[in-house]
Amino acid sequence: MSRARIAPRGPLSGEIKVPGDKSITQRAILLGALAPGVTRIRGANTGEDARAALAMARQLGARVTASVREGILIRGGHLHESDRVLDARNSGTALRLATGLLAAQPFLSILTGDPSLRRRPVARVIEPLRVLGADITARQGDRLPPIVVKGRPLQGAAVTTSVPSAQVKSAVLLAGIQASGVTSVREALPTRDHTERMLPRFGVAVDRDGTAARVRGPATLCAGEIEVPGDFSAASFLLAAASIVRGSDVVLKGVGVNPTRIAFLDHLRSFGAGLECGNERVVSGEPVSDLRVRAGKLRGVRVAPEAAPRLIDELPLVAVLAAFADGKTVVRGADELRVKESDRVATVAAGLRAIGVEVEEHPDGWTIHGKAGRVRGGTVDAAGDHRIAMAFMVAGLAAREGVTVFGAESASVSDPGFLSRLRGLVR
Ligand code: S3P
Repeated sequence: MSRARIAPRGPLSGEIKVPGDKSITQRAILLGALAPGVTRIRGANTGEDARAALAMARQLGARVTASVREGILIRGGHLHESDRVLDARNSGTALRLATGLLAAQPFLSILTGDPSLRRRPVARVIEPLRVLGADITARQGDRLPPIVVKGRPLQGAAVTTSVPSAQVKSAVLLAGIQASGVTSVREALPTRDHTERMLPRFGVAVDRDGTAARVRGPATLCAGEIEVPGDFSAASFLLAAASIVRGSDVVLKGVGVNPTRIAFLDHLRSFGAGLECGNERVVSGEPVSDLRVRAGKLRGVRVAPEAAPRLIDELPLVAVLAAFADGKTVVRGADELRVKESDRVATVAAGLRAIGVEVEEHPDGWTIHGKAGRVRGGTVDAAGDHRIAMAFMVAGLAAREGVTVFGAESASVSDPGFLSRLRGLVR
């Protein structure tokens, strides 16, 4: 396990690009494997989750080449049974989306992941897929991976998801495009809609109505050309870093600003950071912008429970910002954090206490008593969770005694270049 020590430094400044979006990359890989023809993905995320999705696509018969000049090329459309278990490693997205995709493929698949992923729930994806006629079983009463998928013909159906989860919604849509008839997915709160935006780029129409998405199958897919925008969640770590280090002024270029992902920007403004969006454009159906952030005097905020799904991966960062703010921050409605790569409600609370911040842990969030410029620092265990590792490395930049993060290598799950990018901004 590697250790990183981040000590307080001068202001962050400069312009920088963030890695390609991890969610979009994995969707493009899986759809590229399914669609006949050659799909090209430019600007893909190069983290371990994306690599796991690529390895699964290869194992299922997709031909994959990758180069800096050409991007990732996937020749798909001829999937076959793998003689080995498909290993999604740390990626919940790869595991759950592939389960939906494979539910309609006429062969047997067994999917698993690393110890963290094998503790994460899958009933939420198995149950709605069964409504379409899927034959899927998993460990401990279908609650945990490994998952066994006996692919078979599916029938379109109307599904309402039990938890607000883009992974569940996407799994159903990937099954639905291969089923006979109409499949609709309705969710109580809106979640990231990258799948709905990407399907038309593979020739599949998606009807949308509020928080429902509808596809008609079996759809004829054609290979797509996908340019992946910068990852908003990866950008958020740098936005937070520049917000807490006095005098910082940073521009992040080409960041995906899909409205279902960017609630963090509103919260950053409420905390008191200076934020501007410019050079707005659309790339492969996704809104993209350059973001300029300047440090500010931060004050505590209240996170509304209904904002949680649009803020889900940034909630650990909200907690770090809260530590450096004046006054109290209350986060509720974040119970989904309990079933992420770690129990993030618990790992964030432990991390904050370890750096000298008072926090009350609730079943679905925290009350954090901000210390403004007086955060002590200390040693934090990332619990093998990339977002916890990166969030506390950010905290190190502004904590009096710096922060040492055990398990810093987990950052490479989503952003292998995180530490050098962060250091590159420090003058
Ligand atoms: C993701 C959806 C979210 C998010 C995860 C990526 C996706 O998970 O936390 O990092 O790519 O669809 P849930 O769908 O479980 O909320």
